[in-house]
Amino acid sequence: MELLKKKIRDEGMVLNEHVLKVDSFINHQMDPVLMKEMGKEFAKRFKDNGVTKILTIESSGIAPAIMAGLELDIPVIFARKKKSLTLTDDLYTSKVYSFTKKETNTITVSRKFFSEDDTILIIDDFLANGHAAFGLADLANQASATVAGIGIVIEKAFQPGGDELRARGYRVESLARISSLKHKTVKFVEEQKELEIY
Ligand code: G4P
Repeated sequence: MELLKKKIRDEGMVLNEHVLKVDSFINHQMDPVLMKEMGKEFAKRFKDNGVTKILTIESSGIAPAIMAGLELDIPVIFARKKKSLTLTDDLYTSKVYSFTKKETNTITVSRKFFSEDDTILIIDDFLANGHAAFGLADLANQASATVAGIGIVIEKAFQPGGDELRARGYRVESLARISSLKHKTVKFVEEQKELEIY
């Protein structure tokens, strides 16, 4: 998706070989126009798959997910990472380890929002090692719902998550796929073109 790639080139900051900072349009300040376009793109890619609900994880997955939900006219559920005061029982839970943060979160969703009749589209902002996506798929599987696919804003294709999810049969659609962050440079999978980011 060109608009997203341009934004990454213009505003992304390569912190190191593994981490891209995008806090001016995704992770802290958010760009609603870009979010809207990303929602349209996800909807376009999954419009013929009978998706009934979108599942994401707090916090940065929520914005692209809600925009896709708006386009597809379906509800959006976000898995919680922290215990909620009101979300107390009848939960599906899964454990998600974050390499970036070196912590394990128990993610939860209420059972009442899923059923075996649902076809779920999973959406998240980053795909790195795939733990969040596998955890979300696990929640959908516990409900015997169908997983139509996984929509990712930025896939770091040099990390194993995308390949592992595809190998397990999941359809993964990423709006931008990064092949390398070496030498302070973002390299996208499709074009193999190097662009300096300062
Ligand atoms: P995984 O889910 O694919 O296994 O990835 P990992 O454990 O490495 O990522 C944990 C958190 O770090 C996730 O956010 C993920 O979105 C984020 N992350 C991973 N790689 C990058 C990166 O290169 N840049 C940025 N900006 N974030 C990255 P989270 O803990 O769920 O945070 P949030 O959604 O509450 O913001």
